[in-house]
Amino acid sequence: MALGLFKNKKSVSQLSLENITLPEHIGIIMDGNGRWAKKRGLPRSAGHRAGAKNFRTITKHCANIGIKYLTVYAFSTENWKRPESEVNALMDLFKSYLEEAIRDFKDEDIVVRFIGDKTAFSPELQALIRENEECSKDRTGMVLNIAMNYGGRDEIVKAAREIAKMVESGEISSDGITEQLISQHLYTADQPDPDLIIRPSGEYRISNFLLWQSAYAEYVILDDVLWPDFSKEMLEQCILEYARRNRRFGNV
Ligand code: IPE
Ligand code: IPE
Ligand code: MG
Repeated sequence: MALGLFKNKKSVSQLSLENITLPEHIGIIMDGNGRWAKKRGLPRSAGHRAGAKNFRTITKHCANIGIKYLTVYAFSTENWKRPESEVNALMDLFKSYLEEAIRDFKDEDIVVRFIGDKTAFSPELQALIRENEECSKDRTGMVLNIAMNYGGRDEIVKAAREIAKMVESGEISSDGITEQLISQHLYTADQPDPDLIIRPSGEYRISNFLLWQSAYAEYVILDDVLWPDFSKEMLEQCILEYARRNRRFGNV
């Protein structure tokens, strides 16, 4: 397994999850399902199914090791550009997945939230989204944000519109627009910014994920691992790499 952007190969082995400060919030760009399927001569939809299965494994592991917030990128505002057959297969998968998730995450004490513009989904899918959020809202464990029809730019436009209305109505003046106010109008309001963002499949780009929130996130890109093959051990290695980074936030 080659790990891109791993800067501290030697010293990683001296660390363990027990003696580091865990990232409070992890973001994962679950990329590479299509290539995973292609390598096996399977349709892309089979890759998405394998990716959904792995999503459950990795989510539960994050909760088990004590991560407080996990945001997974499942479908971007740009993914509608894909062939209709692939989009339909993904929507069917989301539907069957969300039906199962209602009971699956119950024992894990996971709070399930959805970030993104839900209005684009079918009424049936929107009802399942609401049901998942509703039945998990009083749990106290890890917060899982599932980013579906999510785009960082779309999210900032939404915040700008809401804030513009506040100025128009005289509720605040333009001087009242602060970084904190903008953060409060994002889908992730009241949550800490991501500390660590992981992207398997070797693409060195952000693809419109958590644009505002990732200002000081640490990135770990895995060069030759596709999302369905991303394992619990790889997750832990990414966290150990994160722990070796020197985060300065602009300071010296
Ligand atoms: C990520 O895998 C899943 C979605 C974007 C919905 P891809 O489908 O992008 O897989 P690759 O990048 O084509 O291999
Ligand atoms: C990002 O992956 C979106 C998700 C993983 C849901 P893409 O496969 O859509 O990103 P690009 O097109 O390679 O940038
Ligand atoms: Mg991709």
